[in-house]
Amino acid sequence: MKNKIVELLDAQIENMDAEEINSLLEIPPKSEMGDFAFPCFKLAKVFRKAPPMIALDLKEKIGCPDFLNKVECLGGYLNFFVDKSMFARQIVENYLSDSNYGGSDEGQGKTICIDYSSPNVAKNFHVGHLRTTIIGNSLNKIFTKLGYHVERINHLGDWGTQFGKLIVAYKNWGSKKAVEEKGIEELMRIYVKFHEEAEKDDSLNDEARAWFTKMEHGDEEALSIWKWFREISLKEFMRVYELLGMEFDSFAGESFYNDKMQPVIEELKQKGLIKVSDGAQIVDLEEYNMPPCLITKKDGSSLYATRDIAAAMYRKKTYDFSKCIYVTGLEQKLHFAQWFKVIELMGYDWSKDLMHVPYGLVSLKGGKLSTRKGHVIYAEDILHESIQKTRSIIEEKNPNIPNKEEVAKQVGIGAIVFNDLYNQRIKDVIFDWEKLLNFDGETGPYVQYTYARAASVIRKIGDVPSVYDYSVLSDDVSMALLKEIARYPQVVSDAAEKMEPFVVSRYAVALAQAFNKFYHECQINVEDENIKYTRANIVIITKSILKDALSLLGIQCPEQM
Ligand code: ARG
Repeated sequence: MKNKIVELLDAQIENMDAEEINSLLEIPPKSEMGDFAFPCFKLAKVFRKAPPMIALDLKEKIGCPDFLNKVECLGGYLNFFVDKSMFARQIVENYLSDSNYGGSDEGQGKTICIDYSSPNVAKNFHVGHLRTTIIGNSLNKIFTKLGYHVERINHLGDWGTQFGKLIVAYKNWGSKKAVEEKGIEELMRIYVKFHEEAEKDDSLNDEARAWFTKMEHGDEEALSIWKWFREISLKEFMRVYELLGMEFDSFAGESFYNDKMQPVIEELKQKGLIKVSDGAQIVDLEEYNMPPCLITKKDGSSLYATRDIAAAMYRKKTYDFSKCIYVTGLEQKLHFAQWFKVIELMGYDWSKDLMHVPYGLVSLKGGKLSTRKGHVIYAEDILHESIQKTRSIIEEKNPNIPNKEEVAKQVGIGAIVFNDLYNQRIKDVIFDWEKLLNFDGETGPYVQYTYARAASVIRKIGDVPSVYDYSVLSDDVSMALLKEIARYPQVVSDAAEKMEPFVVSRYAVALAQAFNKFYHECQINVEDENIKYTRANIVIITKSILKDALSLLGIQCPEQM
Protein backbone atom coordinates (compact mmCIF):
# COMPACT_ATOMS: atom_id res chain seq x y z
CA MET A 1 0.00 0.00 0.00
CA LYS A 2 2.77 2.36 0.95
CA ASN A 3 4.51 1.65 -2.35
CA LYS A 4 1.35 2.36 -4.26
CA ILE A 5 1.03 5.74 -2.58
CA VAL A 6 4.68 6.48 -3.30
CA GLU A 7 4.03 5.67 -6.96
CA LEU A 8 1.03 7.99 -7.04
CA LEU A 9 2.98 10.86 -5.55
CA ASP A 10 6.05 10.18 -7.64
CA ALA A 11 4.01 10.53 -10.81
CA GLN A 12 2.94 14.03 -9.71
CA ILE A 13 6.08 15.40 -8.11
CA GLU A 14 8.92 16.05 -10.49
CA ASN A 15 11.55 17.37 -8.13
CA MET A 16 11.57 14.42 -5.77
CA ASP A 17 12.49 10.82 -6.39
CA ALA A 18 10.54 7.84 -5.13
CA GLU A 19 13.06 7.08 -2.45
CA GLU A 20 12.76 10.49 -0.88
CA ILE A 21 8.97 10.39 -1.07
CA ASN A 22 9.07 7.02 0.62
CA SER A 23 11.23 8.33 3.44
CA LEU A 24 8.97 11.35 3.97
CA LEU A 25 5.75 9.37 4.10
CA GLU A 26 4.61 9.14 7.71
CA ILE A 27 2.23 7.01 9.67
CA PRO A 28 -0.04 9.50 11.45
CA PRO A 29 -0.37 9.25 15.23
CA LYS A 30 -4.18 9.05 15.07
CA SER A 31 -6.35 6.98 12.79
CA GLU A 32 -8.61 10.00 12.09
CA MET A 33 -5.64 11.39 10.23
CA GLY A 34 -5.54 8.50 7.82
CA ASP A 35 -3.17 5.59 7.34
CA PHE A 36 -0.37 7.50 5.67
CA ALA A 37 0.45 11.18 5.59
CA PHE A 38 2.64 13.06 3.18
CA PRO A 39 4.12 16.33 4.53
CA CYS A 40 4.33 19.04 1.89
CA PHE A 41 6.71 21.35 3.75
CA LYS A 42 9.82 20.35 1.87
CA LEU A 43 8.12 21.09 -1.41
CA ALA A 44 7.22 24.63 -0.33
CA LYS A 45 10.58 26.00 -1.39
CA VAL A 46 10.59 24.32 -4.79
CA PHE A 47 7.03 25.23 -5.68
CA ARG A 48 7.15 28.62 -3.95
CA LYS A 49 3.77 27.94 -2.46
CA ALA A 50 2.40 27.39 1.02
CA PRO A 51 2.32 23.72 2.04
CA PRO A 52 -1.51 23.58 2.40
CA MET A 53 -1.81 24.85 -1.17
CA ILE A 54 0.55 22.23 -2.42
CA ALA A 55 -1.41 19.56 -0.57
CA LEU A 56 -4.60 20.80 -2.22
CA ASP A 57 -3.02 20.74 -5.69
CA LEU A 58 -1.71 17.24 -5.21
CA LYS A 59 -5.07 16.03 -3.94
CA GLU A 60 -6.76 17.26 -7.07
CA LYS A 61 -4.24 15.70 -9.39
CA ILE A 62 -4.28 12.37 -7.59
CA GLY A 63 -8.04 11.94 -7.38
CA CYS A 64 -9.11 8.75 -5.64
CA PRO A 65 -7.83 5.46 -7.10
CA ASP A 66 -9.73 2.37 -5.96
CA PHE A 67 -7.28 1.23 -3.29
CA LEU A 68 -8.00 4.44 -1.41
CA ASN A 69 -11.18 5.40 0.41
CA LYS A 70 -10.37 9.06 0.46
CA VAL A 71 -7.58 11.62 0.40
CA GLU A 72 -7.71 14.69 2.65
CA CYS A 73 -5.70 17.84 3.16
CA LEU A 74 -4.86 18.88 6.70
CA GLY A 75 -2.43 21.62 7.67
CA GLY A 76 0.18 21.03 5.01
CA TYR A 77 -0.25 17.28 5.05
CA LEU A 78 -1.90 15.10 2.49
CA ASN A 79 -3.64 12.31 4.38
CA PHE A 80 -4.38 9.00 2.71
CA PHE A 81 -7.16 6.72 3.89
CA VAL A 82 -6.61 3.32 2.34
CA ASP A 83 -9.31 0.81 1.64
CA LYS A 84 -9.22 -1.19 4.86
CA SER A 85 -10.17 -4.58 3.53
CA MET A 86 -7.68 -4.31 0.74
CA PHE A 87 -5.04 -3.14 3.17
CA ALA A 88 -5.77 -6.03 5.52
CA ARG A 89 -5.62 -8.52 2.70
CA GLN A 90 -2.29 -7.24 1.58
CA ILE A 91 -0.74 -7.46 5.04
CA VAL A 92 -2.03 -10.97 5.66
CA GLU A 93 -1.04 -12.26 2.23
CA ASN A 94 2.37 -10.74 2.62
CA TYR A 95 2.77 -12.61 5.89
CA LEU A 96 1.44 -15.91 4.57
CA SER A 97 3.63 -15.89 1.49
CA ASP A 98 6.87 -15.69 3.45
CA SER A 99 8.00 -18.61 5.59
CA ASN A 100 10.76 -16.43 7.08
CA TYR A 101 8.52 -13.43 7.66
CA GLY A 102 10.49 -10.51 9.06
CA GLY A 103 13.72 -11.89 7.69
CA SER A 104 15.37 -11.67 4.31
CA ASP A 105 18.23 -13.10 2.32
CA GLU A 106 20.37 -9.97 2.33
CA GLY A 107 23.10 -11.92 4.10
CA GLN A 108 23.12 -14.86 1.70
CA GLY A 109 26.69 -16.08 1.25
CA LYS A 110 28.11 -13.65 3.79
CA THR A 111 29.69 -14.40 7.14
CA ILE A 112 29.62 -12.20 10.20
CA CYS A 113 31.92 -12.97 13.11
CA ILE A 114 30.57 -11.90 16.47
CA ASP A 115 33.07 -11.81 19.30
CA TYR A 116 31.05 -11.71 22.50
CA SER A 117 30.75 -12.91 26.06
CA SER A 118 34.51 -13.63 26.32
CA PRO A 119 34.85 -13.86 30.12
CA ASN A 120 38.23 -14.05 31.77
CA VAL A 121 39.57 -17.33 33.07
CA ALA A 122 40.04 -17.37 36.85
CA LYS A 123 37.76 -14.37 37.24
CA ASN A 124 34.07 -14.39 37.94
CA PHE A 125 31.47 -14.14 35.20
CA HIS A 126 30.00 -10.87 36.37
CA VAL A 127 27.01 -8.80 35.31
CA GLY A 128 29.05 -6.87 32.74
CA HIS A 129 29.83 -10.11 30.94
CA LEU A 130 26.17 -10.93 31.11
CA ARG A 131 25.51 -7.86 28.97
CA THR A 132 27.94 -8.77 26.18
CA THR A 133 26.56 -12.30 26.27
CA ILE A 134 22.95 -11.17 25.93
CA ILE A 135 23.61 -8.48 23.31
CA GLY A 136 25.95 -10.65 21.25
CA ASN A 137 23.50 -13.52 21.26
CA SER A 138 20.69 -11.27 20.09
CA LEU A 139 22.79 -9.80 17.27
CA ASN A 140 23.59 -13.36 16.27
CA LYS A 141 19.88 -14.21 16.00
CA ILE A 142 19.05 -11.00 14.14
CA PHE A 143 21.78 -11.46 11.54
CA THR A 144 20.93 -15.12 11.15
CA LYS A 145 17.33 -14.15 10.42
CA LEU A 146 18.64 -11.92 7.64
CA GLY A 147 20.41 -14.85 6.03
CA TYR A 148 23.95 -14.25 7.27
CA HIS A 149 26.11 -17.07 8.44
CA VAL A 150 27.23 -16.09 11.93
CA GLU A 151 30.36 -17.38 13.67
CA ARG A 152 29.77 -17.07 17.39
CA ILE A 153 33.18 -16.57 18.90
CA ASN A 154 33.95 -16.64 22.59
CA HIS A 155 37.33 -14.91 22.85
CA LEU A 156 38.12 -16.21 26.33
CA GLY A 157 40.55 -14.15 28.36
CA ASP A 158 42.82 -17.11 28.95
CA TRP A 159 46.30 -15.69 28.35
CA GLY A 160 48.46 -12.93 29.75
CA THR A 161 50.76 -12.06 32.62
CA GLN A 162 48.00 -12.56 35.17
CA PHE A 163 48.41 -16.31 34.69
CA GLY A 164 52.04 -16.02 35.75
CA LYS A 165 50.80 -14.36 38.92
CA LEU A 166 48.22 -17.05 39.48
CA ILE A 167 50.79 -19.80 39.18
CA VAL A 168 53.04 -18.11 41.74
CA ALA A 169 50.04 -17.58 44.00
CA TYR A 170 48.94 -21.16 43.66
CA LYS A 171 52.39 -22.48 44.45
CA ASN A 172 52.68 -20.29 47.55
CA TRP A 173 49.19 -20.11 49.03
CA GLY A 174 46.94 -22.46 47.14
CA SER A 175 45.92 -26.07 47.42
CA LYS A 176 44.58 -28.52 44.90
CA LYS A 177 41.72 -29.39 47.18
CA ALA A 178 40.56 -25.81 47.68
CA VAL A 179 40.68 -25.05 43.94
CA GLU A 180 38.76 -28.20 43.17
CA GLU A 181 36.14 -27.42 45.78
CA LYS A 182 35.67 -23.71 45.34
CA GLY A 183 36.74 -23.15 41.74
CA ILE A 184 36.94 -19.56 40.54
CA GLU A 185 36.25 -18.18 43.99
CA GLU A 186 39.46 -19.76 45.27
CA LEU A 187 41.43 -18.62 42.21
CA MET A 188 40.26 -15.09 42.88
CA ARG A 189 41.23 -15.38 46.50
CA ILE A 190 44.81 -16.39 45.77
CA TYR A 191 45.04 -13.76 43.05
CA VAL A 192 44.14 -11.03 45.55
CA LYS A 193 46.60 -12.56 47.98
CA PHE A 194 49.31 -12.34 45.34
CA HIS A 195 48.77 -8.59 44.97
CA GLU A 196 48.86 -8.06 48.72
CA GLU A 197 52.12 -9.96 49.03
CA ALA A 198 53.70 -8.39 45.94
CA GLU A 199 53.17 -4.96 47.54
CA LYS A 200 55.63 -6.06 50.18
CA ASP A 201 57.90 -8.18 48.03
CA ASP A 202 58.47 -7.02 44.46
CA SER A 203 60.44 -10.13 43.55
CA LEU A 204 57.11 -11.97 43.34
CA ASN A 205 56.33 -9.89 40.27
CA ASP A 206 59.57 -11.02 38.63
CA GLU A 207 58.68 -14.59 39.41
CA ALA A 208 55.25 -14.13 37.88
CA ARG A 209 56.72 -12.66 34.70
CA ALA A 210 59.08 -15.58 34.47
CA TRP A 211 56.19 -18.05 34.75
CA PHE A 212 54.25 -16.32 31.99
CA THR A 213 57.33 -16.36 29.78
CA LYS A 214 57.55 -20.07 30.48
CA MET A 215 53.95 -20.42 29.37
CA GLU A 216 54.64 -18.52 26.18
CA HIS A 217 57.52 -20.88 25.47
CA GLY A 218 55.48 -24.00 26.05
CA ASP A 219 56.80 -25.08 29.45
CA GLU A 220 54.94 -28.23 30.43
CA GLU A 221 54.44 -27.58 34.12
CA ALA A 222 53.31 -24.00 33.59
CA LEU A 223 50.89 -25.05 30.87
CA SER A 224 49.38 -27.91 32.82
CA ILE A 225 48.52 -25.66 35.77
CA TRP A 226 47.15 -23.03 33.40
CA LYS A 227 45.08 -25.59 31.56
CA TRP A 228 43.59 -26.83 34.78
CA PHE A 229 42.59 -23.29 35.83
CA ARG A 230 41.07 -22.82 32.40
CA GLU A 231 39.01 -26.01 32.60
CA ILE A 232 37.74 -25.19 36.06
CA SER A 233 36.69 -21.72 34.94
CA LEU A 234 35.10 -22.95 31.74
CA LYS A 235 32.98 -25.39 33.69
CA GLU A 236 31.53 -22.48 35.67
CA PHE A 237 31.01 -20.38 32.55
CA MET A 238 29.19 -23.26 30.90
CA ARG A 239 26.65 -23.27 33.71
CA VAL A 240 25.73 -19.69 32.81
CA TYR A 241 25.46 -20.50 29.10
CA GLU A 242 23.28 -23.45 29.89
CA LEU A 243 20.94 -21.32 31.97
CA LEU A 244 20.72 -18.84 29.13
CA GLY A 245 20.40 -21.60 26.53
CA MET A 246 23.35 -20.34 24.52
CA GLU A 247 26.01 -21.96 22.41
CA PHE A 248 29.18 -20.83 20.67
CA ASP A 249 30.93 -22.00 17.54
CA SER A 250 34.38 -21.28 18.86
CA PHE A 251 36.06 -20.97 22.22
CA ALA A 252 39.34 -19.93 20.66
CA GLY A 253 40.44 -17.54 23.39
CA GLU A 254 43.52 -15.39 23.64
CA SER A 255 45.78 -18.40 24.21
CA PHE A 256 44.82 -19.76 20.81
CA TYR A 257 46.89 -17.01 19.20
CA ASN A 258 50.09 -17.70 21.12
CA ASP A 259 51.84 -19.15 18.06
CA LYS A 260 50.18 -16.69 15.68
CA MET A 261 51.60 -13.48 17.10
CA GLN A 262 55.24 -13.76 16.04
CA PRO A 263 54.42 -13.63 12.31
CA VAL A 264 52.25 -10.56 12.97
CA ILE A 265 55.08 -8.83 14.81
CA GLU A 266 57.42 -9.68 11.91
CA GLU A 267 54.94 -8.23 9.46
CA LEU A 268 54.58 -5.05 11.50
CA LYS A 269 58.35 -4.68 11.56
CA GLN A 270 58.67 -5.35 7.88
CA LYS A 271 56.03 -2.73 7.13
CA GLY A 272 57.99 -0.24 9.19
CA LEU A 273 55.28 0.22 11.77
CA ILE A 274 57.16 -0.85 14.90
CA LYS A 275 59.01 1.59 17.11
CA VAL A 276 61.05 0.59 20.12
CA SER A 277 60.33 2.68 23.15
CA ASP A 278 61.95 1.91 26.49
CA GLY A 279 62.57 -1.66 25.34
CA ALA A 280 58.91 -2.19 24.42
CA GLN A 281 57.71 -2.50 20.84
CA ILE A 282 54.91 -0.14 19.96
CA VAL A 283 53.00 1.26 17.01
CA ASP A 284 53.01 5.02 17.27
CA LEU A 285 49.54 6.51 16.79
CA GLU A 286 50.24 10.10 17.74
CA GLU A 287 49.29 11.26 14.29
CA TYR A 288 45.80 9.86 14.94
CA ASN A 289 45.51 11.41 18.38
CA MET A 290 45.78 8.14 20.19
CA PRO A 291 48.31 6.73 22.61
CA PRO A 292 50.62 4.12 21.10
CA CYS A 293 49.42 0.55 20.61
CA LEU A 294 51.60 -1.76 22.71
CA ILE A 295 52.75 -4.85 20.82
CA THR A 296 55.32 -6.39 23.15
CA LYS A 297 56.49 -5.50 26.63
CA LYS A 298 60.09 -4.92 27.65
CA ASP A 299 60.44 -8.60 28.55
CA GLY A 300 59.14 -9.60 25.14
CA SER A 301 55.75 -10.84 26.29
CA SER A 302 52.66 -10.15 24.22
CA LEU A 303 49.66 -8.02 25.14
CA TYR A 304 45.90 -7.96 24.81
CA ALA A 305 46.13 -5.85 21.63
CA THR A 306 48.75 -8.12 20.05
CA ARG A 307 46.43 -11.05 20.45
CA ASP A 308 43.49 -9.10 19.05
CA ILE A 309 45.48 -8.19 15.93
CA ALA A 310 46.55 -11.81 15.43
CA ALA A 311 42.97 -12.98 16.03
CA ALA A 312 41.51 -10.57 13.47
CA MET A 313 44.00 -11.73 10.83
CA TYR A 314 43.25 -15.35 11.63
CA ARG A 315 39.51 -14.74 11.39
CA LYS A 316 39.78 -12.90 8.10
CA LYS A 317 41.74 -15.83 6.68
CA THR A 318 39.54 -18.52 8.21
CA TYR A 319 36.05 -17.08 7.80
CA ASP A 320 36.50 -14.34 5.21
CA PHE A 321 34.02 -12.29 7.20
CA SER A 322 32.08 -9.40 5.74
CA LYS A 323 31.96 -7.96 9.25
CA CYS A 324 33.70 -8.79 12.49
CA ILE A 325 31.86 -7.38 15.49
CA TYR A 326 33.22 -6.97 19.01
CA VAL A 327 30.72 -6.61 21.82
CA THR A 328 32.33 -5.17 24.96
CA GLY A 329 31.84 -2.42 27.50
CA LEU A 330 32.38 1.17 26.41
CA GLU A 331 35.55 1.37 28.50
CA GLN A 332 37.37 -0.63 25.83
CA LYS A 333 36.59 1.88 23.09
CA LEU A 334 40.15 3.17 22.86
CA HIS A 335 41.64 -0.32 22.79
CA PHE A 336 39.61 -1.22 19.71
CA ALA A 337 40.16 2.12 18.00
CA GLN A 338 43.90 1.65 18.45
CA TRP A 339 44.32 -1.78 17.02
CA PHE A 340 41.72 -1.26 14.26
CA LYS A 341 44.01 1.59 13.19
CA VAL A 342 47.02 -0.72 13.26
CA ILE A 343 45.25 -3.13 10.91
CA GLU A 344 44.47 -0.21 8.62
CA LEU A 345 48.09 0.96 8.69
CA MET A 346 49.15 -2.57 7.74
CA GLY A 347 47.28 -1.90 4.51
CA TYR A 348 44.27 -4.16 5.01
CA ASP A 349 41.17 -2.57 3.55
CA TRP A 350 39.01 -4.92 5.60
CA SER A 351 39.87 -2.87 8.68
CA LYS A 352 36.65 -1.00 7.81
CA ASP A 353 34.72 -4.21 8.47
CA LEU A 354 35.89 -4.39 12.08
CA MET A 355 33.31 -2.94 14.39
CA HIS A 356 33.27 -2.24 18.06
CA VAL A 357 29.77 -2.49 19.50
CA PRO A 358 29.95 -0.99 22.99
CA TYR A 359 27.46 -0.99 25.83
CA GLY A 360 26.91 0.82 29.13
CA LEU A 361 27.18 -0.23 32.74
CA VAL A 362 24.90 -2.20 34.98
CA SER A 363 23.64 -0.42 38.04
CA LEU A 364 21.49 -1.72 40.81
CA LYS A 365 18.43 -0.14 42.24
CA GLY A 366 18.15 -0.60 45.96
CA GLY A 367 21.34 -2.65 45.91
CA LYS A 368 19.48 -5.71 47.10
CA LEU A 369 21.17 -8.20 44.81
CA SER A 370 22.75 -11.03 46.68
CA THR A 371 26.49 -10.77 46.41
CA ARG A 372 29.12 -13.24 47.32
CA LYS A 373 32.31 -12.10 48.95
CA GLY A 374 34.05 -9.04 47.57
CA HIS A 375 31.04 -7.18 46.13
CA VAL A 376 31.30 -8.87 42.77
CA ILE A 377 27.94 -9.78 41.37
CA TYR A 378 27.92 -13.15 39.72
CA ALA A 379 25.76 -13.50 36.63
CA GLU A 380 24.76 -16.94 37.77
CA ASP A 381 23.45 -15.62 41.09
CA ILE A 382 21.34 -12.98 39.42
CA LEU A 383 19.83 -15.50 37.03
CA HIS A 384 18.97 -17.88 39.85
CA GLU A 385 17.54 -15.09 41.93
CA SER A 386 15.31 -14.08 39.06
CA ILE A 387 14.09 -17.63 38.53
CA GLN A 388 13.41 -17.92 42.23
CA LYS A 389 11.40 -14.70 42.35
CA THR A 390 9.45 -15.70 39.25
CA ARG A 391 8.64 -19.03 40.84
CA SER A 392 6.97 -17.27 43.75
CA ILE A 393 5.01 -14.98 41.44
CA ILE A 394 3.74 -17.99 39.50
CA GLU A 395 2.95 -19.80 42.73
CA GLU A 396 0.69 -16.87 43.58
CA LYS A 397 -0.84 -16.18 40.18
CA ASN A 398 -1.27 -19.53 38.59
CA PRO A 399 -0.14 -22.40 40.81
CA ASN A 400 -1.68 -25.11 38.65
CA ILE A 401 0.15 -24.67 35.36
CA PRO A 402 2.14 -27.61 34.02
CA ASN A 403 5.97 -27.48 33.84
CA LYS A 404 6.13 -24.86 36.55
CA GLU A 405 9.88 -25.21 36.91
CA GLU A 406 10.54 -24.76 33.19
CA VAL A 407 8.17 -21.79 33.02
CA ALA A 408 9.87 -20.11 35.99
CA LYS A 409 13.18 -20.56 34.24
CA GLN A 410 12.03 -19.21 30.88
CA VAL A 411 10.26 -16.23 32.43
CA GLY A 412 12.88 -15.47 35.08
CA ILE A 413 15.66 -15.49 32.52
CA GLY A 414 13.53 -13.78 29.90
CA ALA A 415 12.95 -10.93 32.34
CA ILE A 416 16.68 -10.33 32.82
CA VAL A 417 17.43 -10.58 29.11
CA PHE A 418 14.56 -8.31 28.13
CA ASN A 419 15.54 -5.71 30.72
CA ASP A 420 19.06 -5.72 29.32
CA LEU A 421 17.82 -5.19 25.78
CA TYR A 422 15.08 -2.67 26.38
CA ASN A 423 17.19 0.45 25.86
CA GLN A 424 19.97 1.51 23.57
CA ARG A 425 23.07 -0.50 24.31
CA ILE A 426 25.02 2.50 25.45
CA LYS A 427 22.55 3.35 28.19
CA ASP A 428 23.18 1.89 31.61
CA VAL A 429 21.02 -1.02 32.61
CA ILE A 430 19.23 -0.63 35.90
CA PHE A 431 18.36 -3.68 37.86
CA ASP A 432 15.05 -3.12 39.54
CA TRP A 433 13.39 -6.41 40.40
CA GLU A 434 9.94 -4.95 40.76
CA LYS A 435 10.08 -3.35 37.39
CA LEU A 436 11.67 -6.10 35.39
CA LEU A 437 9.40 -8.81 36.76
CA ASN A 438 6.21 -6.77 36.39
CA PHE A 439 3.78 -8.79 34.27
CA ASP A 440 1.97 -5.62 33.20
CA GLY A 441 4.93 -3.38 32.47
CA GLU A 442 7.11 -3.03 29.42
CA THR A 443 8.85 -6.26 30.26
CA GLY A 444 9.74 -9.71 29.04
CA PRO A 445 7.12 -11.35 31.27
CA TYR A 446 4.45 -9.04 29.81
CA VAL A 447 5.25 -10.09 26.25
CA GLN A 448 5.50 -13.75 27.27
CA TYR A 449 2.21 -13.46 29.08
CA THR A 450 0.61 -12.01 25.97
CA TYR A 451 1.97 -14.89 23.94
CA ALA A 452 0.51 -17.38 26.44
CA ARG A 453 -2.82 -15.57 26.26
CA ALA A 454 -2.84 -15.91 22.47
CA ALA A 455 -1.92 -19.58 22.80
CA SER A 456 -4.79 -20.12 25.20
CA VAL A 457 -7.29 -18.48 22.84
CA ILE A 458 -6.27 -20.88 20.11
CA ARG A 459 -6.32 -23.89 22.42
CA LYS A 460 -9.92 -23.07 23.27
CA ILE A 461 -10.98 -22.76 19.64
CA GLY A 462 -9.16 -25.85 18.46
CA ASP A 463 -8.59 -26.24 14.72
CA VAL A 464 -8.68 -22.96 12.85
CA PRO A 465 -9.45 -23.26 9.12
CA SER A 466 -7.87 -20.62 6.94
CA VAL A 467 -10.86 -18.34 6.68
CA TYR A 468 -10.10 -14.68 6.03
CA ASP A 469 -13.01 -12.32 5.67
CA TYR A 470 -11.15 -9.04 5.33
CA SER A 471 -14.21 -6.91 5.98
CA VAL A 472 -14.11 -8.25 9.54
CA LEU A 473 -10.76 -6.55 10.04
CA SER A 474 -11.61 -3.02 8.99
CA ASP A 475 -12.23 -1.60 12.47
CA ASP A 476 -9.53 0.63 13.98
CA VAL A 477 -8.35 -1.81 16.61
CA SER A 478 -7.84 -4.68 14.16
CA MET A 479 -6.18 -2.31 11.71
CA ALA A 480 -3.82 -1.08 14.40
CA LEU A 481 -2.79 -4.67 15.11
CA LEU A 482 -2.35 -5.42 11.42
CA LYS A 483 -0.13 -2.40 11.03
CA GLU A 484 2.11 -3.70 13.78
CA ILE A 485 2.27 -7.02 12.00
CA ALA A 486 3.19 -5.24 8.77
CA ARG A 487 6.02 -3.39 10.46
CA TYR A 488 8.02 -6.42 11.56
CA PRO A 489 10.37 -6.80 8.55
CA GLN A 490 11.38 -3.14 8.81
CA VAL A 491 11.99 -3.56 12.54
CA VAL A 492 14.35 -6.49 12.04
CA SER A 493 16.29 -4.74 9.34
CA ASP A 494 16.57 -1.52 11.41
CA ALA A 495 17.79 -3.50 14.40
CA ALA A 496 20.49 -5.11 12.27
CA GLU A 497 21.56 -1.88 10.66
CA LYS A 498 21.95 -0.11 13.99
CA MET A 499 23.08 -3.27 15.79
CA GLU A 500 20.48 -2.42 18.39
CA PRO A 501 18.32 -5.24 19.75
CA PHE A 502 16.19 -2.67 21.61
CA VAL A 503 14.46 -1.92 18.31
CA VAL A 504 13.07 -5.46 18.49
CA SER A 505 12.22 -5.41 22.20
CA ARG A 506 10.30 -2.13 21.84
CA TYR A 507 8.47 -3.61 18.90
CA ALA A 508 7.57 -6.74 20.87
CA VAL A 509 5.92 -4.57 23.52
CA ALA A 510 4.05 -2.52 20.90
CA LEU A 511 2.81 -5.66 19.18
CA ALA A 512 1.75 -7.16 22.52
CA GLN A 513 -0.11 -3.97 23.43
CA ALA A 514 -1.90 -3.86 20.07
CA PHE A 515 -2.82 -7.50 20.51
CA ASN A 516 -4.17 -7.03 24.01
CA LYS A 517 -6.37 -4.21 22.81
CA PHE A 518 -7.65 -6.45 20.02
CA TYR A 519 -8.24 -9.25 22.50
CA HIS A 520 -10.30 -7.01 24.76
CA GLU A 521 -12.27 -5.17 22.11
CA CYS A 522 -12.81 -7.69 19.35
CA GLN A 523 -14.43 -10.78 20.75
CA ILE A 524 -12.85 -13.76 19.12
CA ASN A 525 -14.72 -16.88 20.11
CA VAL A 526 -18.13 -15.88 18.70
CA GLU A 527 -20.93 -17.77 16.90
CA ASP A 528 -20.32 -16.29 13.46
CA GLU A 529 -17.62 -18.48 11.96
CA ASN A 530 -16.44 -15.87 9.50
CA ILE A 531 -15.67 -13.52 12.33
CA LYS A 532 -14.39 -16.18 14.67
CA TYR A 533 -11.95 -17.78 12.25
CA THR A 534 -10.77 -14.55 10.68
CA ARG A 535 -9.93 -13.16 14.10
CA ALA A 536 -8.43 -16.45 15.26
CA ASN A 537 -6.13 -16.40 12.26
CA ILE A 538 -4.93 -12.95 13.23
CA VAL A 539 -4.27 -14.32 16.71
CA ILE A 540 -2.20 -17.12 15.20
CA ILE A 541 -0.18 -14.67 13.13
CA THR A 542 0.43 -12.37 16.09
CA LYS A 543 1.41 -15.29 18.26
CA SER A 544 3.99 -16.49 15.81
CA ILE A 545 5.51 -13.03 15.41
CA LEU A 546 5.65 -12.50 19.17
CA LYS A 547 7.51 -15.77 19.47
CA ASP A 548 9.85 -14.91 16.64
CA ALA A 549 10.59 -11.42 17.98
CA LEU A 550 11.36 -12.81 21.44
CA SER A 551 13.56 -15.49 19.91
CA LEU A 552 15.59 -12.71 18.27
CA LEU A 553 16.27 -11.43 21.76
CA GLY A 554 17.17 -14.89 23.04
CA ILE A 555 13.94 -15.38 24.99
CA GLN A 556 11.67 -18.41 25.00
CA CYS A 557 7.88 -18.49 25.18
CA PRO A 558 6.01 -20.83 27.49
CA GLU A 559 2.60 -21.89 26.15
CA GLN A 560 1.03 -21.31 29.55
CA MET A 561 2.00 -19.06 32.40
N1 ARG B 1 38.02 -10.75 27.99
C1 ARG B 1 37.71 -9.37 27.77
C2 ARG B 1 37.07 -8.78 29.00
O1 ARG B 1 36.52 -9.48 29.80
C3 ARG B 1 36.79 -9.14 26.60
C4 ARG B 1 37.33 -9.61 25.28
C5 ARG B 1 36.65 -8.96 24.13
N2 ARG B 1 37.10 -9.45 22.86
C6 ARG B 1 38.22 -9.11 22.26
N3 ARG B 1 38.52 -9.67 21.11
N4 ARG B 1 39.06 -8.26 22.78
O2 ARG B 1 37.09 -7.57 29.18
